[in-house]
Amino acid sequence: LFSAVEMAPRDPILGLNEQYNADTNPNKVNLGVGVYFDDNGKLPLLQCVQAAEQAMMEKPAARGYLPIDGIAAYDAAVKGLVFGADSEPVKSGRVATVQAIGGTGGLKIGADFLKKVSPNAKVLISDPSWENHRALFSNAGFEVGTYAYYDPTQRGVNFEGMLASLNAAEPGTIIVLHACCHNPTGYDISPEQWDQVIAVIQAKGLTPFLDMAYQGFGYGIKEDGAVIDKFVAAGLNFFVSTSFSKSFSLYGERVGGLSVLCQDKAEADRVLSQLKIVIRTNYSNPPTHGGAVVAAVLSNPELRALWEKELGEMRVRIKAMRQKLVDGLKAAGVQQDMSFITTQIGMFSYSGLSKDQMVRLRNEFGVYGTDTGRMCVAALNSKNIDYVCQAIAKVM
Ligand code: LMR
Repeated sequence: LFSAVEMAPRDPILGLNEQYNADTNPNKVNLGVGVYFDDNGKLPLLQCVQAAEQAMMEKPAARGYLPIDGIAAYDAAVKGLVFGADSEPVKSGRVATVQAIGGTGGLKIGADFLKKVSPNAKVLISDPSWENHRALFSNAGFEVGTYAYYDPTQRGVNFEGMLASLNAAEPGTIIVLHACCHNPTGYDISPEQWDQVIAVIQAKGLTPFLDMAYQGFGYGIKEDGAVIDKFVAAGLNFFVSTSFSKSFSLYGERVGGLSVLCQDKAEADRVLSQLKIVIRTNYSNPPTHGGAVVAAVLSNPELRALWEKELGEMRVRIKAMRQKLVDGLKAAGVQQDMSFITTQIGMFSYSGLSKDQMVRLRNEFGVYGTDTGRMCVAALNSKNIDYVCQAIAKVM
């Protein structure tokens, strides 16, 4: 049965973890996967999460099956975070939200649902995009193309190219957009540019699918979510996938969501019923713990304030490491102006290093980033930064 099964390539991001874990270099640094580590190189367990878990342990609960669409309080919290608890879409009941297994799960539920309602649509992802976007939508049965996004010569967004690609898309094309903190480049478009993108989406009848895995890592929770208000104001129907992996440092709990903004409540009810079929036929219903923790934090004003503070600290530390990286590279002898690193936002820096340089970084120095030159600056700290700068300087 399996004799013709070929060996699949390693995952371009998670596959690096396997290599990193097997590396015996004592100085190794993992800048591959998008994970935030604190200044001691430790994965944080947020205080808000600990407090919520403590309260849960004091009143231990049995674990029955959750509803197919997840914990109601969790779904309400996701809606509140994405659209605003008092927003018109939430109040009118026209958002269908489901708990999902991470942000990836939210994307997959959306992709499978879209394949049912729009089987012939094409999907466009940014060039470049998160590696898994293409794989995920192709595996859901879509033909996946790209829209122009990154311009390596300008070190920024090729906005004219982006608009041209969107203008050339057939009506009904699904456009996967990064709501904030573009992964992998770290370059976002401005609010004014979002207005122009939305105008094209409207004019061409395109279907927006916003991946919001990094809400809070750009300028703040509300600030990063402001793009959603623009899509709402434009009267569009759209998809938003949410992830709490990074913002709650709950990577392994796989806590995410999918929200679909519909015309009215009746439509949202019908959409929700279909999303539930997608979930039921994939994994039946979501797991309890991570969703319960996030719901507890987001629905308690004190814990929510603590979360916002802790998330803010992560955001500020990442920004500080960007500056340290720029300074450290200069001190290590890099002639090229690397100040673009501080104009990027979120967890990643598209460094401009070639695949060969990234392979050398890995093999000679144990510094792991993706072959595309993406480095997770959220894993830099005051102890590893000099070593990383020296290593980069040597391969440059
Ligand atoms: C990343 O881009 O590194 C993260 O989103 C983790 C992942 O699942 O790829």
